[in-house]
Amino acid sequence: MKKILANDGISQNGIDALEKAGFKVITTTVAQEQLANYINEHKIAGLIVRSATQVQKDIIDNCPTLELIGRGGVGMDNIDVDYAKEKGLHVINTPSASSASVAELVFAHLYNGVRYLYDANRIMPLEGDSKFKQLKKAYAKGVELRGKTIGIIGFGKIGKATAQIALGVGMKVIYHDTQVEEATVTVPFFDGQTVSFNLKNTPKDTLLQESDFITVHVPAQANYTIADSDFDKMKDGVGIINAARGGALDEVALVDALEENKVSFAGLDVFESEPNPEIRILMHPKISLTPHIGAATNEAQNRIGEELATQIVSLLK
Ligand SMILES: NC(=O)c1ccc[n+]([C@@H]2O[C@H](COP(=O)([O-])OP(=O)(O)OC[C@H]3O[C@@H](n4cnc5c(N)ncnc54)[C@H](O)[C@@H]3O)[C@@H](O)[C@H]2O)c1
Repeated sequence: MKKILANDGISQNGIDALEKAGFKVITTTVAQEQLANYINEHKIAGLIVRSATQVQKDIIDNCPTLELIGRGGVGMDNIDVDYAKEKGLHVINTPSASSASVAELVFAHLYNGVRYLYDANRIMPLEGDSKFKQLKKAYAKGVELRGKTIGIIGFGKIGKATAQIALGVGMKVIYHDTQVEEATVTVPFFDGQTVSFNLKNTPKDTLLQESDFITVHVPAQANYTIADSDFDKMKDGVGIINAARGGALDEVALVDALEENKVSFAGLDVFESEPNPEIRILMHPKISLTPHIGAATNEAQNRIGEELATQIVSLLK
């Protein structure tokens, strides 16, 4: 019976599917420095991680029973993928399982932003009874998303899932991508109807100038996708969301732009100095904050478990 160690956890349906196929699944969280020992002692064949566990050369070189490394999610920054493949290990992930959940979180931040919920939720517990009327006035200038333009930078799986929701709520969608010249986005409805939209790549500067809201969905990379010089090109009062990776946008420039009222609000799920975001970001009154929970829904975790189990069964059985 081959053993799978799910060191950062796996959904119950993933465990069930693997056990049904004859694997033993261990969900203990082994500390990083004990991991190689544990894998060898228990003759683990498959190691499944999320983003917490590091799977680098030390593990790959010292654990001869290991046949497969699985990442529940998208980014493989914590795995030395090339080296593992070179050594003959299977390396798998679940690239599309969480797209819809991340896209919904983008909209949670957007609706939050246009009605000042990020601030109201902080101030109401303190002043909601003594200054109700003043607060009602302070938050009276909300806007609707319907009819506004959303600019999506990075039009891969999550960018497109975000476009589906945006189109569904009546927004105009423009996108910029370094690879995707044209895209058809199909919006599905509850009764099986669908509506398709053909979209074309927009130059980045045009997107910056025309968007009422900007959301970034690019992979981790060396340079800021939204850099200091980009903020000047944007519409006054734009709202910005980053649920991609800390470093997709320049946080210092963002805070300056918020303070100058160039940007009206930001929604951040990811941070440059994760897991210790800057205090200036955490305390900022115009930022809606979540602690990297884009993929953290029951549905996404179930799809991740299911996709991992299917791939492991076909590769290791
Ligand atoms: N918040 C979360 O919990 C969470 C969860 C899953 C994924 N993510 C992150 O979301 C991001 C997007 O994931 P995805 O699954 O959509 O990836 P994807 O690979 O499907 O799409 C990324 C797209 O970005 C484009 N791109 C790359 N560099 C670009 C640039 N400089 N300018 C414009 N476009 C560029 C690529 O051509 C590609 O089409 C990744 O950074 C991923 O790590 C976050």
